[in-house]
This record gives sequence, structure tokens and C-alpha cells, in this order.
Amino acid sequence: MKLRLVVATRSQHKMREIREILSDVAGLEILSLDEAGIHYSPEEEKLEPFGTFEENARSKASYFRQRTTLPTVAEDSGLEVDALNGGPGVRTKRFAPGEDLDGEARDRANNAYLLELMAGRPPEERGGRYVCVAALALTPNKIECFRGEVPGQVLEAPRGASGFGYDPVMFHQASHRSFAELTPEEKNALSHRGQAFRAMARALENMGPSQP
Ligand code: IMP
Repeated sequence: MKLRLVVATRSQHKMREIREILSDVAGLEILSLDEAGIHYSPEEEKLEPFGTFEENARSKASYFRQRTTLPTVAEDSGLEVDALNGGPGVRTKRFAPGEDLDGEARDRANNAYLLELMAGRPPEERGGRYVCVAALALTPNKIECFRGEVPGQVLEAPRGASGFGYDPVMFHQASHRSFAELTPEEKNALSHRGQAFRAMARALENMGPSQP
């Protein structure tokens, strides 16, 4: 396979993980949006109004495929908590109240809000999962989705300093650690994003050498 692929995310955290996850895929050259010459536009904020990760990921992939004119993958991801009826789900990024919060302040507010909503719940009611859907747009009219999920429990207080977003408040039972206590390599090996992007890479490898 020989393929230049734009990874359409503005999140440096996601970008770092995806580059690492795809680093051993032979013949794949990864470009960020900026490297592809696509600089931020406010209309990007309106790309994920839908009720499922799949629809939002497709929407982003379609938009950025048009702008880059190159094969492009976009992802939508988030957290589902059983006790919150699967929430925050597609609202994971804007979970805590506060319209103008961004970056680390947004992450801190989201984590505090989740802990507050879950306060007093026993361990057996704290289960949920991270979900990631990677939508691959090789051509404008052909978008294929790859889904990854990893189970986790909402902790009672933050633990660990690695990762990003909700990682300090999500516990990975099989590892006996929070996601923020895993090394980047350990997280990528089991994460929702690792699963989704490795599935995408396998599909690309199975398509053979003649990519657009
Ligand atoms: P998106 O950018 O609309 O896909 O929003 C993703 C939301 O889910 C953000 O709040 C992220 O912090 C959170 N999220 C996604 N993946 C992870 C992860 O691997 N660890 C922690 N939080 C994540």
C-alpha cells in the first residue's frame, strides 16, 4: 500500500495517539490538517450536530474530504455511562455547563461534573465505556466507518497524569489502573481509538496497492 492520508482532527492529543497507533502501517503517510494546508475555520464547530458517533464522524470526514481533496479520516469519540443512560455520549466534549470553556479548563470542568453526577453511586453502578468511530473517506462518495469500544468505570476521584480528557476519572479494570495511569503505549494497545484505527488500517491493507 502507498497512501497519503489526512487525519482530520484539531485535537493534538488525538493526533498524537493516532500517529502512534498507525506508525507501523507500511506505506501510509499521515498528514495533519495543517500539513495538508487546511487551517481552522469556525464552520468546523457545526460539523457534529447528530445523535450518533457514526453520523458525526461521517459528517466530519465528508466535509474534510472535500476541503483536502485527499483521502481523509475523521473520528468522533466519547464516553457512555450506563447510569447516565449512555450519556454524555455525543455530548461528551460539551458535557459540563459553560459555553466558553475550552482546552484543559473544559476537561477539568467535564471531569468534575461527571464525578458530581456519579457521587454516592456504588461500584456496580459506575460502569461505562469509551467509544471511537473512525470514518474513512477515500473518495468523496465512499465513507466507511470503524468502531472501537473499551469498558471503564467512573472513579470517585481523579488518578494519574497521562492521557487526556476523561482519562484521570476512568478506570480500566483489567489493567487495575485509570486510563491516565497507563503509558501511552498501553493505552493505545487497548483503547477505543486503537481498536478503531487498527481496524481501519487492516481494511486499507486488504484493499491492496492501488489506492487513489
Ligand atoms: P470530539 O472531539 O467531539 O470527538 O469529543 C471527544 C470528547 O471525548 C472530548 O471531551 C474528549 O476529551 C473525550 N475523549 C475522547 N477520547 C478520549 C480518550 O481517549 N480519553 C479521554 N477522553 C476522551
